[in-house]
Amino acid sequence: MIPHPATQQPLPDETFTLTPDASIGSTDSAVRTIAERLAAQLRRSTGFGLPVRTGAGTITLSTDGADSLGTEGYELRADSSGVTITGATAEGVFRGVTTLRQLLPAQIEAAGVQDGPWEIAGTTISDAPRYGYRGVMLDVTRHFFTVDQVKRFIELVSRYKINRLHLHLTDDQGWRIQVDSWPRLTEYGGSLQVGGGAGGAYTKADFAEIVRYAGEHYITVVPEIDTPGHTNAALASYPELTADGVAPELYTGTKVGFSSLASGKERTYEFLADVFREVAEQTSGDLVHLGGDEAHVTPHEDYLTFVPKAAQLVVDQGKRVMGWHEIADAPLPAGTIVQYWGTEDEKAQALAVKAVEQGATLVLSPANRAYLDMKYDEDTPLGLQWAGLVSVEQSYDWNPATLIPGVPATAIDGVEAPLWTETLDDLAKVEYMVFPRLPGIAELGWSPESALDWKRYRDRLAGQGPRWEALGVNYHRSAEIDWA
Ligand code: ACM
Repeated sequence: MIPHPATQQPLPDETFTLTPDASIGSTDSAVRTIAERLAAQLRRSTGFGLPVRTGAGTITLSTDGADSLGTEGYELRADSSGVTITGATAEGVFRGVTTLRQLLPAQIEAAGVQDGPWEIAGTTISDAPRYGYRGVMLDVTRHFFTVDQVKRFIELVSRYKINRLHLHLTDDQGWRIQVDSWPRLTEYGGSLQVGGGAGGAYTKADFAEIVRYAGEHYITVVPEIDTPGHTNAALASYPELTADGVAPELYTGTKVGFSSLASGKERTYEFLADVFREVAEQTSGDLVHLGGDEAHVTPHEDYLTFVPKAAQLVVDQGKRVMGWHEIADAPLPAGTIVQYWGTEDEKAQALAVKAVEQGATLVLSPANRAYLDMKYDEDTPLGLQWAGLVSVEQSYDWNPATLIPGVPATAIDGVEAPLWTETLDDLAKVEYMVFPRLPGIAELGWSPESALDWKRYRDRLAGQGPRWEALGVNYHRSAEIDWA
């Protein structure tokens, strides 16, 4: 199972078997839809009727758990008489359901009816996460991904108890979220993508559907509007945002660090006030990510005044600020999350320390460990390698609590695995880079330090292969793993 639960004990003489007469019970309305969705999934591969009822069933979902389980914790018991999953919240129950699905045989994930038997070795589990932030990022700018593609991505990552989806929505190559007060951002700025093909953008209805579907999987969307660099698509759409008032061409290459909003113009901040307001309105979570990375053509003095002004515009919308670690050079508002994307360079580490000194917390995305767009090895046909090759072991075998010298463990909110899509123009390619590395990052975010061990993890990861085959996931069959 991935992530490894906090505690698990076998019940040696007990086996649960899901049989045709089974039912799914929910003790309260808060978990009724979770029960209905579980039933729908299990019906596909078992062919059983699996009625959903109020009260106890063969599989019972309940929010009667102790508050000490926390928002995401749950207890699961599987024995000869049935399965119970108990949380203190519906979210905890949902995390427990992801565990139940992994306890069942891999064929449970098949799209059509399979033979079974559908057995689970008797067990009790008591589980809760190590970190509250366990994210994945999808770059929908370099290549655009449709709502349906993003939904499949959400469904696949939710299986590993990921709870944040960071969407990188704006960059040099495209602006992908509708802003009614600045319509050319998507109409023109979203029209292309890397390589020059047609891009795309999410309407407000599209984005609402992504937020809703993520929410159904207890995943909060973190929208990123990258500023002041990575803004060519905005500058091309509205020349008033450039320093010289001249619109650049749309850009479909893959260089970084050449664009900047005009940090000295009042119009820039009027623009950002509108953008952050409309983006905040489309967001159910408490974070808006303002980017801040690689602003190489923004004079540094200007950058240091830009970041607090932009951050204040996010705070004005009642949201907390998130940004890449470069923003820590500037004063940050209370509650800011700084996203570390350094490798082992001292400059990045110093900025992480500076972030913590000003009261910010950190989400860790070390590029040489957690960047899902790095090649696995020299032979990987996709991806980049500026941060090195990131094998499955390299991505798993590190400790968030001790990664950055001088940063205390208490300052770490969690981990996030970013996927940049310069080389990835379809979902099969995305899946190839995400699987099998994402489950390892998810485990670093969820499981207790004592459960983390590369050799034993390898064996558990091998067990995911048949599940991905049943789901049609285009995973990389890395030679590091003895796939079953
Ligand atoms: C980044 O990779 N530029 C955050």
